[in-house]
Amino acid sequence: MIVAQTFAEAEAAVRDMLEGNKFGSSGSRILIEDCLYGEETSILVVTSGRDYIILPTSQDHKRIGEGDTGPNTGGMGTDSPADVVTPELLARIEHEIVKPSVDAIAAEGIDFRGTLFIGIMLTPDGPSVLEYNTRFGDPETQVVLPRLDTDVLALLWAAAKGTLAGVRFAIKPEHAICVVIAAKGYPDAYPKGDVIRFPATLPDNVQIIHAGTARNTSGDIVTAGGRVLGVTALAPTLRAAAGSAYAVCEQIACVTKVYRRDIGAKQLNRQ
Ligand code: GLY
Repeated sequence: MIVAQTFAEAEAAVRDMLEGNKFGSSGSRILIEDCLYGEETSILVVTSGRDYIILPTSQDHKRIGEGDTGPNTGGMGTDSPADVVTPELLARIEHEIVKPSVDAIAAEGIDFRGTLFIGIMLTPDGPSVLEYNTRFGDPETQVVLPRLDTDVLALLWAAAKGTLAGVRFAIKPEHAICVVIAAKGYPDAYPKGDVIRFPATLPDNVQIIHAGTARNTSGDIVTAGGRVLGVTALAPTLRAAAGSAYAVCEQIACVTKVYRRDIGAKQLNRQ
């Protein structure tokens, strides 16, 4: 997806897709949409097709560069909860988007049981859908699951069996943050095979989740993708969570490591 700021940028993107081969066969059909302005939020919904449960809110940081600059990526970091989604706004999102979406899928005769990921732009005119995915989000899931005070497998089982209405669902009050460590060059070309060294121990509130990693013939863990690792921390405040996650990011050694240093900053600056 290209968010073009000018007509010339939009035209170049269309030519890259249809005439160049930048996106391979994924670029052979294109969709041109209005450019929406505002902050984004990711709403993950577990549904049995009839009932649904809205998981904790989160906010992705899609651009590669600090201050939301540079090209879009799969996501460079997330925080949860998303403070921009007030309880009133979440009620509006549920009423205007979540319930109508779940109902519309059922009305089309689709027996969908699983996770619906709705990417939403919070525009000055209200919440507007950017995209739907029938999967969890990455790196949204790294901050959403640690905040569940309900067994996620029980939740998914209930969705599969159509018994979601009877599930006790609770969310922890703590804040979670995930900082993605990427390989320098991503989302364009990036090297692979760089050895990663990890701290010997991790604080109890921090987890490292591997994405683009592999083992080389010496048994070292090496980079093997654009987004390499997700460093997630859970703490009573977002500031404390960010402190824990960034401390571990600094201790991870890899010559091609890059990460945004402002994950959660928008929310922290509002406090
Ligand atoms: N982080 C965006 C996605 O999972 O599509």
